[in-house]
Amino acid sequence: MAKIYHLLYTSRMNEVMTPHQLSTLVKSSAIRNEKSHLTGFLMEREGYFMQLLEGEEDTVLTTFTRIEVDPRHDDVLILADAHSDARLLPDWHMAEIEWTEGMLHSEELLALFERSREALPFNQPGEILRLIERFCAAAHKK
Ligand SMILES: Cc1cc2nc3c(=O)[nH]c(=O)nc-3n(C[C@H](O)[C@H](O)[C@H](O)COP(=O)(O)O)c2cc1C
Repeated sequence: MAKIYHLLYTSRMNEVMTPHQLSTLVKSSAIRNEKSHLTGFLMEREGYFMQLLEGEEDTVLTTFTRIEVDPRHDDVLILADAHSDARLLPDWHMAEIEWTEGMLHSEELLALFERSREALPFNQPGEILRLIERFCAAAHKK
């Protein structure tokens, strides 16, 4: 099986986006991502984004290069990247995940989110990937 490349980043929103603008962004991303065989999620919390992109490495990086220069956000910070044999969200070309405090293992993800704002380096991509894996499994059950 081809290796799946996962890229997780956070960024800061440059302008206030309404829930409608956000879901429009997610929907248009999903249409483009489907054509490129990309999957993942986009989450917003208190003016920060966290996004997971997964697929063929070159495709993920090409898309990420485009996303990175999008004026709707800045301070783009890669939290983790890793290869694995399987997608975490095979059915979602871009899932809009709404943050809920009660989400399983959310404290860990919240901690990751908070730490990313301080731009701390992450040296254990495997560990982060497992955390995101659990988070995706929990989000999937909603
Ligand atoms: C937070 C954020 C996440 C985005 N995610 C995606 C994505 O997953 N896929 C995608 O094609 N575009 C995504 N975009 C939109 C791209 O930045 C870009 O606007 C879009 O791909 C169109 O590119 P173009 O104007 O160069 O044709 C995202 C933008 C933002 C601000």
